[in-house]
Amino acid sequence: MASLLTFPEGEEVTLLDPGAGIGSLTVAAAQSGRDTRIRATCYELEGSFQSELAATLADLPNVVGTIEGRDFIEHAVRLVASGKSPGYSHAVLNPPYKKINTGSPHRMLMRKLGVETSNLYTCFLACAISLCRPGAQVVAIIPRSFMNGLYFKPFRYWLLGRVALTHIHIFDRRDRAFSDDEVLQENVILRMIVGAEQSVVHVTASTDQRFNDTQHRLCNFTEVISPDDEEQFLHVPTLGSPSSDGLPGVTLRELGMDVCTGPVVDFRLRAHICQKAEPDAMPLLYASHFSGGRFEWPRAGRKPNSIYRNAETEKWLMPKGCYVILRRFSSKEEKRRVVAYLFDGRELPGNAVGFENHLNVIHQDRRGLPHAVARGLVEYLNSQAVDDYFRVFSGHTQVNATDLRRMRYPGIKELEQLGRSARAQPGR
Ligand SMILES: C[S@@+](CC[C@H](N)C(=O)[O-])C[C@H]1O[C@@H](n2cnc3c(N)ncnc32)[C@H](O)[C@@H]1O
Repeated sequence: MASLLTFPEGEEVTLLDPGAGIGSLTVAAAQSGRDTRIRATCYELEGSFQSELAATLADLPNVVGTIEGRDFIEHAVRLVASGKSPGYSHAVLNPPYKKINTGSPHRMLMRKLGVETSNLYTCFLACAISLCRPGAQVVAIIPRSFMNGLYFKPFRYWLLGRVALTHIHIFDRRDRAFSDDEVLQENVILRMIVGAEQSVVHVTASTDQRFNDTQHRLCNFTEVISPDDEEQFLHVPTLGSPSSDGLPGVTLRELGMDVCTGPVVDFRLRAHICQKAEPDAMPLLYASHFSGGRFEWPRAGRKPNSIYRNAETEKWLMPKGCYVILRRFSSKEEKRRVVAYLFDGRELPGNAVGFENHLNVIHQDRRGLPHAVARGLVEYLNSQAVDDYFRVFSGHTQVNATDLRRMRYPGIKELEQLGRSARAQPGR
């Protein structure tokens, strides 16, 4: 990661390492710029890391290090506000990752820099950039969520107004790169130049942090951010597979369809829900009923199987019919992010059905879809092109209704054809 920084031989540079831990990134930068004198400033709040950090810095022959044992964000904002920004020439960071709420002190401080953001990692990146001089190189490993999260839109505008993105590295096998992490998150390494004019972006991908199978491609910036995209979503073009432009033409709305999250929030309707499939109740479907490519109902297990139809539940039920169902959250083990199921209510008892909130339901005016169209849609959503598209577009493992609305689909005729030619597969 630090090898993405370039160092002028024989000159002195100033390096910022905010949230330095025990100094691993400064060590890597010092090795990468071994013929350069480096004045490093390492911020680290955690007292227990500071002595090891001091020992690490003392061991680096080309580094003169300063440890700032205080809150990086607080100090950075103070320096910028008082016009005393040190103007670092290099920054390297692996910031902490934590949500911050609207009234938190860090969030208020960030507003002084004109940044509205909801996570500590974006605060760190914005502060680091603010402390750098024009032309400075900034390399950061951060979660991908800022690239297309709706709440990160103001941050994307802030960032792209201040830096040129020159390199994006992604880890494209979520099971391998973060196999030790409890929380599944996808990270990206960015190299940016402060205040530079945006030009092409070098995109690389590897399956893990050993980088020994890295693929490369130079991309036009318009492949990363579409010029007419008001959201400024950042796409990472997949290397060696179809780009997002490969998807056909219409939106769900144009197909006369829409997608909603399953209307049944079970803890609100607990009194009307039964564990077993009761003969006088309606089927209630959870993500667990759609699993491993198969639909199974009723299903013995932790989740209930039915819901009574009455005045209190009526508005949360949908008429029996054919729907396309996608789980909202994929698990780490699932190879594909998008797995669509054909739900054909005709095979089930009752005249209505309850979909629980962890499901996405594709419908037509809150009713079922024609069978052939639904089957075609399932085939399409389960295609490699759609999975590739989702990986390019979406940094998270969730499949949101918004993402499904924004995606492109074949027309009704093609879907029907796809549906008819699809081999009958139970539950799909
Ligand atoms: C993800 S770790 C990265 C450590 C190191 N840079 C590395 O890559 O191994 C983030 C570090 O930031 C420190 N940290 C968290 N909040 C901080 C703050 N407000 N100011 C300074 N350091 C902070 C944590 O103690 C932690 O060591």
